[in-house]
Amino acid sequence: MAMYMRYLGRLRCGACGLRFRVFSDGKRCFTSKAVTQPDVLMERKLQETCRRKTFAQEQADRLEQAHRSILIKCPQKVNKPQLLKSLAKHGNIAHHHFFGSYETMLLLQFERRDGILSVKQSCSMPRPGKAFPFPARSRVILMTRHNEPTVGKADLPDRRSPENERFQDLLEMLRHHSNINGQLEELVQHMQLTEEDIRLRFLVSSLLQDLCTAILPSIQIQPFGSSVNLFGRVGCDLDMFLDIGSLNFERNSKRVQQDSPLEFQVKMFKSERQATQTILSLVGKLLRHISPSFDSIQEVLKARCPVLRFCHSPSNLNCDLTASNRIALYMSETLKAFAQIDARVRPLVFAIRCWARAQNLTSSVSGTWITNFSLTLLVLFFLQQRSPSVIPTISDLRKHADRRDHRVLDGMNCTIVSDLSKIAPSNNEQSVEDLLHGFFDFYGSFPFQKKSINLRTGQMQRRSDNFPMEIINPFEENLNVSKNVNVRQLVHFVELSQNASWKLEKHHQSSSNQSWGLMTLLQHWSNQQGSVTDGTSLHPRPKAERFNDLYQSLWSEKNGNSEEMQQTRNSSPQTDGDRQVKGQTE
Ligand code: GTP
Ligand code: MG
Repeated sequence: MAMYMRYLGRLRCGACGLRFRVFSDGKRCFTSKAVTQPDVLMERKLQETCRRKTFAQEQADRLEQAHRSILIKCPQKVNKPQLLKSLAKHGNIAHHHFFGSYETMLLLQFERRDGILSVKQSCSMPRPGKAFPFPARSRVILMTRHNEPTVGKADLPDRRSPENERFQDLLEMLRHHSNINGQLEELVQHMQLTEEDIRLRFLVSSLLQDLCTAILPSIQIQPFGSSVNLFGRVGCDLDMFLDIGSLNFERNSKRVQQDSPLEFQVKMFKSERQATQTILSLVGKLLRHISPSFDSIQEVLKARCPVLRFCHSPSNLNCDLTASNRIALYMSETLKAFAQIDARVRPLVFAIRCWARAQNLTSSVSGTWITNFSLTLLVLFFLQQRSPSVIPTISDLRKHADRRDHRVLDGMNCTIVSDLSKIAPSNNEQSVEDLLHGFFDFYGSFPFQKKSINLRTGQMQRRSDNFPMEIINPFEENLNVSKNVNVRQLVHFVELSQNASWKLEKHHQSSSNQSWGLMTLLQHWSNQQGSVTDGTSLHPRPKAERFNDLYQSLWSEKNGNSEEMQQTRNSSPQTDGDRQVKGQTE
C-alpha cells in the first residue's frame, strides 16, 4: 500500500467543485473515495473531473507531474514488466509509458520526488576511457547492457507511425464514417496529442529547466503554443518560454523592504532584449556542451522575438525556446479558452490546419506562407461572425473577468476570464459540417484587400497597413500576425478555399469506393491536378477573373512593400531565403 505524507487538510477544487484531501507532498485525493484506492486511479479521476481547471492550474499541475518524472533509454528488447518491477523499488510509480522505434524509451512518473533521487543514487557515471564524461546528473538515464532485463521477440516496443503513415491510416478510417460530422470527430481523435505526448512535452520542459538552473537557480520554463492550447497534433513542435520576468519578482516582493540599502551586484545590459539574447545564447552553449539529449542547436537571436531552436533527440521533439514571451503564454490560454467554450471549435481548427498542410499551404519551416497560428485566428474570427455567433469576442471574454484575472503586460491588456463557466453557451445550432463549408465560402470571397480581421471586437475593419493580409494581433493591436503572407500565398489560399467549398458540395455523400467528404480535402492538391483519383474532373478554377482582380489589386498597390511583393511573387515559397522566425513575424 502507498505510503502517505502528512495530511494537511481539505480543499475544494475551484474548477469542478469536488472536495479533496491535500498531503504535504502536494498529492491530492478525493474525500468521497477511500484513501486506500491506488493513487494512479485517483490521479486519472482527478484529470477527468477537473477538465475545467483554469489554464494556470493545469500548467502548474502538469509541471509538477513532470518534475516527478524520468526518461529511461532502454534496449529494444527490454523486459518491460521486469524493468517496472525493479524501478518500483525506488518508489511508487504513478504513471508509465513505453514508446520509441529504434530504442525503447520509458517515461516514468513517481508518486513522489524521492523516487527520482533514489534512482539517481543508484546510477553510476560512465567510466572515463577515450572520452571523459561531464559529470552532470540529469533525469535522462541510460540502461546499459550488462544490467538490462531482456526478453524474447514477442515484447518488441510499439512503433510510432511516421506522419505520412498516420495520415494514410486516417484517410482509411475516414472512409468508414457515414457523415462528415463523424469524419471530423475521427480526425480529432486520430491527430490530437495523446495524454502521453503531453506528459512528454512537460517532461522536456522540466529537463530543460534543470539544465538552466545552472545559469539562474530560480529560472522557470513553461510550454505554450499548440502543446497546451488543445490544437496540437501528433508531431507538432514544442514551444517553451523562459520566464525572465519571474526572476525579477524580488523587486516587487513584500519580503524585500523598500528602504533596504542592500542590493545584488549584477551585470547590467543595454536593454531587456540584450539580456534575453545573452541568456538564450548561454542556454544554447549549455545544451551544446553539457547535455547529450539536445542536438541541432540553432540560435536565431536577431529575430523580433529571439529564439533558440533545437531537437530533443530521445523524444524526437523539435523545440523552440523564447524568453520574455509571457504574452504568447496568455495567447495560448486564450486559444485554449475558445476550444473549451464550444465543442465545434476543435474539429474545425483541426480540419482547417490539416487541410492546409495537405494542400501545402502551410509548412514546418517559416516563410511567406500562412502559419498555423494565423489559420487558427481565421477560424475563430469566422465563428465570431456567425449569426448567432458560435464563440464570443475577446472583449466579451474580458467583460466576464474578475479582479484576479486582470493582467497588463507593457501596457497591453491581456485580461480574459479564467472561469469559463461564466460564458453562456452559444445559441448557434449549425453542425460542424455546415461550419466547415461556411469557412471555405467565407474566405473564398473575403475582401482581404479592403478589410482586416479583429478578434477583439469580432468585426472586420478598414485596413491599416499595406500587406496583402491583415489579422490584427488580439493583444498587440498595432501588430499584424499575417504580415509574412505574400500575395501569391494569399491568392492560393482563396483559390483553394473556393475549391474546397466546391468539393464538399459535390462529394458530401458517403461512398464506399470513392473519396468523399473530408477525405477529398485532405488529399494532396498536386495529386489531383488534371486527373482526380475518384474519377470525376476537377472543378474548373471558379471565378478565375476574380482571383486575377484580387491579385492585381494587391499587386499594383502603390506602397512601400510592392518591391517585396515582386520578389516573393517570383520566388517559390520553398526556396525563399529570407526566412523569418516562425510565428514571430510582426
Ligand atoms: P504549430 O506549432 O504549428 O502546431 O502551432 P502553434 O500554435 O504552436 O504555432 P507556433 O509554434 O508557430 O507558435 C507558437 C505560439 O506563438 C502560438 O500559439 C502563438 O501564441 C504565438 N505566435 C505564433 N505566431 C505568432 C505571431 O505571428 N505573432 C504573435 N504575437 N504570436 C505568435
Ligand atoms: Mg508550435
